[in-house]
Amino acid sequence: MIDWHIRRLDATTSTNDELRREAETDAGEGLVITAERQSAGRGRQGRVWESPPGNLYCSVLLHPQNMPAAAGFYSFVAALAVHDAVRHFLPAAPVTLKWPNDVLVSGKKISGILLEVFGDALIAGIGVNIAHYPEQTVYPATSLVAEGAEGFKSDDILESLLPRLGYWHDWMQSEGFEPIRRAWLERAQKGPMIVRLSQGILQGDFGGIDEQGRLRLLLADGAERFISTGDVFFCGTEHAAGD
Ligand code: BTN
Repeated sequence: MIDWHIRRLDATTSTNDELRREAETDAGEGLVITAERQSAGRGRQGRVWESPPGNLYCSVLLHPQNMPAAAGFYSFVAALAVHDAVRHFLPAAPVTLKWPNDVLVSGKKISGILLEVFGDALIAGIGVNIAHYPEQTVYPATSLVAEGAEGFKSDDILESLLPRLGYWHDWMQSEGFEPIRRAWLERAQKGPMIVRLSQGILQGDFGGIDEQGRLRLLLADGAERFISTGDVFFCGTEHAAGD
């Protein structure tokens, strides 16, 4: 069981930066830093994460076994925790997972997870759109309020999120990736997809994830591709063909 210690800030550049400074001074597992707003919130692949007041911005320090090899599996561990917390606040909404670690509500992105490795430590930066969501994004976005949830604060989301993160982290530590992989697949959005890679675009059908967490894409000619890095768009996603 993780003993959580939450440090709350009004503002920072990025909660991941704050937590990294703490990790440099040997902070223990379970330290959580939250901020009301970030002036330089970071997303995956060098993107900006808009961070106005009203959403949840937090970073969590973990010390998984087998670092840095285990780091990639935490995309799925963290996504499961966020998924289950979001579903708690939107029990009737279709909440699904998009590879590698996005949580979708009604097909739109409601959260982001940025994992950073620091020595043997893992910094899991998590943003959940509560009151706001960005309009101009590569993937259509939404927020808890836009989806109809009301009457809670960002601390309530954090309180829901941390035990779930502890739960899936404990599973990962005791049983390895296989149960995490199965739980992730149960919640995954399936169907035809476009995957944007650094060298171009691939189109195919979702074929699951393998034991390393790679996306399995089934191509029209019957071939399969295993993908380690890329951006997934489900066919029909508003911005799939754009930017
Ligand atoms: C993504 O691109 O989907 C990942 C976004 C991660 C955003 C969170 S907000 C808290 C933490 N601090 C950051 O600067 N980024 C992460």
